Amino acid sequence: MNRVPEETINSIREQTDIVQVVSQYLQLRKSGQNHFASCPFHDDKTPSFSVSEKKQIYYCFSCGRGGNVFGFLQEMEGLSFIEAVGKTAELADIELDQSIIDQAKQSRPAEDSSRGKLLKIYEKAEHFYHHVLMNTQAGEEAYHYLLERGMTKESIETFKIGFSPPQRESLKMYLENEELSDPELLKQSGLFSDRDDLAFYDRFTNRIVFPIKDGKGQTVAFSGRAFMPTDESHQPGHHTAKYMNSPETELFNKRRILFNYDKARAGIRREGEVLLFEGFMDVISAWQAGVKNGIASMGTSLTEEHVQTLDKVTDHLIIAYDGDKAGMEATKRAADFLAQETHFTVEVASFPENLDPDDYIQAKGNDAFKEFLSHGRDTLMSFLMKYHRVGINVKNESERLKYIEVILKEMSRVSSAVERELYLNQLEEEFDVSVDALKEQMTVYIQEQQKERHKQRRKEKEANPTREPVRISFHQNQPKQTAVMKAEQMLLNRLFTHDEVWIKLENMDKELSLTTEANQLLFLLYDEYYHSHDHPSIQSFIDYLPDDKLKSKLTEIMLINLSEDIATGEIEDYIRLINDRHPLEDRLKQKRDELKLAERSGDKEKQTSLAIEIINLSRQLNSK
Ligand code: CTP
Ligand code: MN
Repeated sequence: MNRVPEETINSIREQTDIVQVVSQYLQLRKSGQNHFASCPFHDDKTPSFSVSEKKQIYYCFSCGRGGNVFGFLQEMEGLSFIEAVGKTAELADIELDQSIIDQAKQSRPAEDSSRGKLLKIYEKAEHFYHHVLMNTQAGEEAYHYLLERGMTKESIETFKIGFSPPQRESLKMYLENEELSDPELLKQSGLFSDRDDLAFYDRFTNRIVFPIKDGKGQTVAFSGRAFMPTDESHQPGHHTAKYMNSPETELFNKRRILFNYDKARAGIRREGEVLLFEGFMDVISAWQAGVKNGIASMGTSLTEEHVQTLDKVTDHLIIAYDGDKAGMEATKRAADFLAQETHFTVEVASFPENLDPDDYIQAKGNDAFKEFLSHGRDTLMSFLMKYHRVGINVKNESERLKYIEVILKEMSRVSSAVERELYLNQLEEEFDVSVDALKEQMTVYIQEQQKERHKQRRKEKEANPTREPVRISFHQNQPKQTAVMKAEQMLLNRLFTHDEVWIKLENMDKELSLTTEANQLLFLLYDEYYHSHDHPSIQSFIDYLPDDKLKSKLTEIMLINLSEDIATGEIEDYIRLINDRHPLEDRLKQKRDELKLAERSGDKEKQTSLAIEIINLSRQLNSK
């Protein structure tokens, strides 16, 4: 059991609003009393995940997971209970006793697992590189180079940037000193050379090193930027790649990881949009300029996995790639990719004069940068118009027609009719063609596209018949509730919220026995909890429960909407229904067993008559 006093835990929970915590991870939409989002805990296409502000719980109607704010963070971040309490305090800005902070840290995930050990290695390596950059002569030139580039000491510290010294074995020696010397693990870490004759030579030697963190803020890889102290321009020579990443490991997957996602998540939620940069120098400079919702992929184009991650927190993306030809091509690729996901709003910030965002900041300053980001962006369509316009001579009739054709094709993918109208008018004005003619042509493209999409879908289905996402409807994957089960849940709901119900129950001569195991367990545990706590509350009962399934069940029960006051005879009705059930329910079970036997023996006639009996019995049960 944890040693953090229960009052502390209760007080942290009471000072926190679950809606605010959840909104740092998910895009919640209010509907009626509750807030909704698509569930982060299973592949959810519909918003089945709900958060109740009044009851301070979350619950997914489709996968049935539920709990309070601690449970949410445990599940979301993979934390232990105490860690989740610590994290809640952090998110809600609640000051904690140092001893509690220490405890929350001590229970980090199994340090002896290979993942745990790798994380330890990266943590130490990050510390080593950072120390070399900040405090040693070996790092001095690199440090000054970063300052010259406009990076502040504060951001170097925030991003824990480091330098790998020319002495190629010093990292290994440092790790050994920290009792991290298992050669297999060191190899696995990817921090050392792949060549056998250079075993345990630091891979990043003479590079400025950027820690790459996962969504939880744990360092899982590094990227090194070439830095040659002797080279005046500090640009890498022809044979060295400017950037080099750690190889992929069980912790580092380029298709998934987004640089700075851990720090940017809160900013993305706050701003309601995410900025997608090409390089992490751009992310860092933007951060320094006060733009805290920027991320970058690791030198790869945007993947399905990246989009899935972002989809959980926002539906508004701004592509802010480099202003050069390559950046424009990359923007076009990302835009085409994102166009398949119609629910995203995509905008483009195209930086002028071949500048990348970092160059822009250095050349024009923080304010100009922020100004450009808020007012200089293009809609996706105006970007595409610019993109296709490059290198076209619109005075030449055939080139002009070609251009109009391409634009109409792009436009046919825009789903908003209003937006399409807007661009059609622009085209009309610019090229003096009638909107009607343009529309006619575009309709042809829209139809072509629909056909193409159908064909594509058919092909996908044939190749992989099960891939089509199943739309999960309300409660589909949970057993159908009988009237008795409903009565049990309502009774429990009353019991958890109205003390006087206990008195009624305690005055009953018959022991209450509930049909569903989870309900029965909740009842017994609440009894135990209620009589051993001075200030029982349903929220602290959630924490008291030993098991996630029970927590989820309890949340489901709490979400039942009952009137504030208990009606006369209400409790008695529940109890009567529950107690009366036995003969029917037992008979139903018996008939079901008989049916199984009849199926096995192949007795068709018996099967039919049993099936009819079962249907009738279930009807009787359900109508109670
Ligand atoms: N990149 C890479 N390998 C390279 C060059 C680039 O993996 N040889 C990736 C890196 O993730 C980098 C991003 O592509 O962050 C953008 O590259 P680039 O625009 O060349 O880098 P800058 O961010 O402009 O870096 P700097 O300003 O330091 O030159
Ligand atoms: Mn740059």
